[in-house]
Amino acid sequence: MADNGLILVTGAAGQLGAVGRTVTGLLLDRGLLVRAMVRREDDRAAALRAAGAEVVVGDLLEPADVSRVLSGCRRVYFGMSVSAGYLEATVTMAAVAREVGVNALVNMSQMTVSQMSIQHTTPSRQQRQHWLSDQALAWSSLPVVTIRPTMFLESFFPLAGSTVRDRGRIALPFGRGKTSPVAAADVARVVTAVLADPGPHLGRIYELTGARSQDMHAVAREFSDALNREVTYADISPEEWEQELKRAGVPEHLTGHLVTMGALHRAGQYDRLADGVERVTGRPAMSVREFVSLYADEFGGRRS
Ligand SMILES: NC(=O)c1ccc[n+]([C@@H]2O[C@H](COP(=O)([O-])OP(=O)(O)OC[C@H]3O[C@@H](n4cnc5c(N)ncnc54)[C@H](OP(=O)(O)O)[C@@H]3O)[C@@H](O)[C@H]2O)c1
Repeated sequence: MADNGLILVTGAAGQLGAVGRTVTGLLLDRGLLVRAMVRREDDRAAALRAAGAEVVVGDLLEPADVSRVLSGCRRVYFGMSVSAGYLEATVTMAAVAREVGVNALVNMSQMTVSQMSIQHTTPSRQQRQHWLSDQALAWSSLPVVTIRPTMFLESFFPLAGSTVRDRGRIALPFGRGKTSPVAAADVARVVTAVLADPGPHLGRIYELTGARSQDMHAVAREFSDALNREVTYADISPEEWEQELKRAGVPEHLTGHLVTMGALHRAGQYDRLADGVERVTGRPAMSVREFVSLYADEFGGRRS
C-alpha cells in the first residue's frame, strides 16, 4: 500500500498524558504531515492547527467518523483518554484500518498487560480492555506496534499536585511498593520514532518505564531535591483513597482503574524496569527529579 506520508494521530487534544498532542508536535518538527483527530473544536484544536496539523473532529466510538479521519492515512497512532469505551474504540479502529489498509498502527497499551493472562487479570476494566484490545489487534493481522508504558509521571498532577503545593506531601495508598513512572513526553518520543520509520518496529511490544524503580519515600526525596523544600510521602489506606476519589467526582471507570493501580503498587507489581525508551530513541528516560524540575510551578514552585 503506497504511503502518502500523512499520519493520523488520535486523542490529539490531550487531557492527562497528552501523548497524542506531543506526538503531533514532534512529527511536525520532523517535517512530517499530520492529521490530528480531536473530539471538539476548542483552543486545543486551534493550537494544533496553528502548529501546522490538519485538524479533524470526530468520535472514536463512531465507525463513520473513524473511517472519515483514517481515509488517506497509512500510519496511525491510536490512543485516547482512559474511558469505558476503550475496547470498542480499539476494535472499531481495527475494523476500519483493515478495510482502508494501513502500513503501521501504533497502539497505546499499558505495561500491566504484560503481566496478565486468562488466570491473572486485574479488577481494572481499563487494564482488562487493554489486555483484550492487544489480543484483538494481534488477531487482526494488522501491522501493529504495541506501546506499554507504566504509570505516567503526569499522573502526579491530579494525584499529588495540590498536596505537594499546599503541604509538601504526597498521599497515596502505594505502601512500600516500588514504582518507576515514565514521562508521557518520553512515551511520545518513542511513538514518534516508530511512526517516522515503522518498518523495523512492526510486530514489536515496547515496555516503557522511567529511570529508576523506588518506593514512594524515595520518589518524595526526588520531589524535595527538585523543589528545594521538603516533600514527604504518606501511605494512606486504600479505602480512604477510594472515598476521596469518589468525593472528588472522579468517574466510576477511572476510580476503579486508579484503585486497582494503588492495590497493584501496594503489592509490589509496579516494581519494574524496562529499557524501551532508550532502545527506541537512543536517550534514557527522564527521572522523577528532572520531571518535577521541569514542572516545578505545577507543584508550587522551587524554593530558591
Ligand atoms: N495515565 C497513565 O498513567 C497511563 C499509563 C500507561 C498507559 N496509559 C494509557 O495511555 C492512554 C491515555 O493517553 P493520554 O494520557 O495521552 O490520553 P489523554 O491525554 O488523557 O487523552 C487523549 C484524548 O483522548 C480524547 N478522547 C477521549 N475519548 C474520545 C473519543 N470517544 N473520541 C475521540 N477522542 C476521544 C480526549 O478528548 P477530550 O479531551 O476532548 O475529551 C483526550 O484529549 C490510555 O490508553 C491509558 O491506558 C496511561
